[in-house]
Amino acid sequence: MSKILVISGHPHLDRSNMNAAILESLEDKFNGDILEVRRLDELYPDFNIDAKAEQEALVDADIIVLQFPIYWYNVPSLLKKWIEDVLEYGFAYGSSGTALHGKKLLLSFTAGSGADVYHEKMAHDLPDFMPAFQETAALTGMEWQEPVYSYGALTDADLAAKHSDRLIARLVEISA
Ligand SMILES: Cc1cc2nc3c(=O)[nH]c(=O)nc-3n(C[C@H](O)[C@H](O)[C@H](O)COP(=O)(O)O)c2cc1C
Repeated sequence: MSKILVISGHPHLDRSNMNAAILESLEDKFNGDILEVRRLDELYPDFNIDAKAEQEALVDADIIVLQFPIYWYNVPSLLKKWIEDVLEYGFAYGSSGTALHGKKLLLSFTAGSGADVYHEKMAHDLPDFMPAFQETAALTGMEWQEPVYSYGALTDADLAAKHSDRLIARLVEISA
């Protein structure tokens, strides 16, 4: 089975309902030979990211999952900094930057606002905010996967379990 690397971009997992529960479900489902979860808030509370260690983890993986809560229609700043520091020229892009070629990139994210808010009050739906990440996958030679996402994280108590089920099903499907 493919090796799955989950990069958790939540800046405060100790205060999380959704993302913490989703990570726990993944760890319950997949054993440590298949799954590595890197909790950026624990590893880098000071935002001082160890690019070499992160790159080694990426090289080892077949599927890379970015797991995060939507903050201001984007990834949290800790995950943005991870992207900036880790996807270096010569590693992730450039003529010799081929380390990520052929790996699958899957975004898994949660949003506080409900689907009704996105559909009726906003000019853009939730997945419409992700083209920059799709281009990042293209530039780095990764295979873009349709994201797994949930609306209404603040209102639906069962949402983490439903999200985890969909994410696990997708991971099993693309691992085959
Ligand atoms: C700084 C900040 C910015 C946020 N921005 C958005 C946003 O742009 N859109 C949205 O739907 N929810 C937004 N939220 C709500 C979070 O996405 C929501 O609380 C989170 O997905 C729940 O996951 P958790 O329980 O793991 O923290 C924001 C929350 C915070 C703290």
